[in-house]
Amino acid sequence: MKIAIGSDHGGYILKERIVEHLSKNPLYKLKDFGTFDSQSVDYPDFAREVAVPVSGGEFDRGILCCGTGIGVSIAANKVPGIRAALCGDTFSARASREHNDANILCVGERVIGPGLALDIVDIWLESEFSGDRHGRRVQKIKDIENKYSREGN
Ligand code: RB5
Repeated sequence: MKIAIGSDHGGYILKERIVEHLSKNPLYKLKDFGTFDSQSVDYPDFAREVAVPVSGGEFDRGILCCGTGIGVSIAANKVPGIRAALCGDTFSARASREHNDANILCVGERVIGPGLALDIVDIWLESEFSGDRHGRRVQKIKDIENKYSREGN
């Protein structure tokens, strides 16, 4: 599985922990889009860096971290084709895959501890979309996106 990962300074330490953790698994091919230190940066820049190639199919999934996870999730969800889910518990992480077919996971370094965050990441990566009635609902999300997206405006 090809995974794009990124963070701002508020999620940098957690992002490094996730990279270290996932690098041990040969099933995962990770590309780290930064940031690469604790200098203050703007989270939309890193959300875009991850979301665009996930939307384009270059990566199967994306993971984004910031202080709360909120900023990166809002920004990533502006990219057509992205369903970014902010998760602070393992139940939501699994459901975001099974029900919502989330293709980006967002986590907040200042909200949850690293142990829970790594469990969330593992469960999210291992869970699959259930399809069926959930497919109809995800299609309705795509319909909204198609109707209201104004690319370039
Ligand atoms: C940075 O201070 C912080 O605002 C950012 O990491 C994130 O929490 C934004 O949503």
